[in-house]
Amino acid sequence: MDQLNITEAGSTTLSEPDRYAVVGNPVAHSKSPLIHHAFAQQCAQNIQYERRLAPLDGFKSAIADLIEHGYKGVNITVPFKLEAFALATTLSDRARAAGAVNTLIFNGGEIYGDNTDGAGLVRDIEHNLRVAIAGKRILLIGAGGAAEGVLQPLLAATPAVLVISNRSVDKAINMAKKAATASSAALDVRACAFAELDGQTFDIVINATSTGLSDSELPLPATIFANASLAYDMMYGRETAFMAFARSHGAQVSDGFGMLVEQAAEAFYLWRGVRPETQAVMQALRQLSAA
Ligand code: ATR
Repeated sequence: MDQLNITEAGSTTLSEPDRYAVVGNPVAHSKSPLIHHAFAQQCAQNIQYERRLAPLDGFKSAIADLIEHGYKGVNITVPFKLEAFALATTLSDRARAAGAVNTLIFNGGEIYGDNTDGAGLVRDIEHNLRVAIAGKRILLIGAGGAAEGVLQPLLAATPAVLVISNRSVDKAINMAKKAATASSAALDVRACAFAELDGQTFDIVINATSTGLSDSELPLPATIFANASLAYDMMYGRETAFMAFARSHGAQVSDGFGMLVEQAAEAFYLWRGVRPETQAVMQALRQLSAA
């Protein structure tokens, strides 16, 4: 494959590019323009993708403005995923299950809302890290928006058991109940407090809490990591306390960088109908941030 030349600039062809953006607050840190321009270059798609900072109380008008200016779609990041869910006129099943939207498509008067986060996580674990989910024991730590967003796609990958554990255990219990009743399949999905994890082991442990932002430590027993287990932090960009803890107890460790690229690839596919080859883009982005 030709080497990818990753830039923020986007297309340089003469015809008008189709326009996309990532909307958030803050949004300056977002790698989405780099990722989508790399996809576009690889797939020969004429697009322009930018960051759009929306005021905390101005999400709806920011979207209206983008629609008025002919944008084809947007990615949604913190803190607007719930507002995007409410704004969508049509929702995908996975957005409905997540209760949140990270991708919008503007089509005439329709605002189609989808959520590609869970698909991105599952693809990163199964395809990039080559760890099968089917038949495995999964621990999902956290019961906030990030955890909700990935729960259904994880269950659809048919683990043997999925345990949700959260500091506020009631939220984990509600999530597990909701997931069990929403599915027609007999799913083994349970909830427990951190202290109850003592003595349980898991093949895949996923940190979906926001503790990576503050570097606070989770009170997890070291025994949760089975032999050759995978510890996955949905945060990316640096080694979190969770990752260091898992590494020191023998787990294979990954941050959420692959999930970031894979959820973007899924959004790109929704918009453009072509699926980018993500490995090359991940490699180029890693080289860029190491430079
Ligand atoms: P997000 O959209 O990132 O999921 P959120 O909905 O605010 O954000 O959820 C944050 C998650 O991180 C929750 O599961 C939260 O636990 P609580 O439900 O008990 O609040 C978890 N979390 C945040 N800080 C934490 C900490 N210091 N220790 C344990 N869990 C923490």
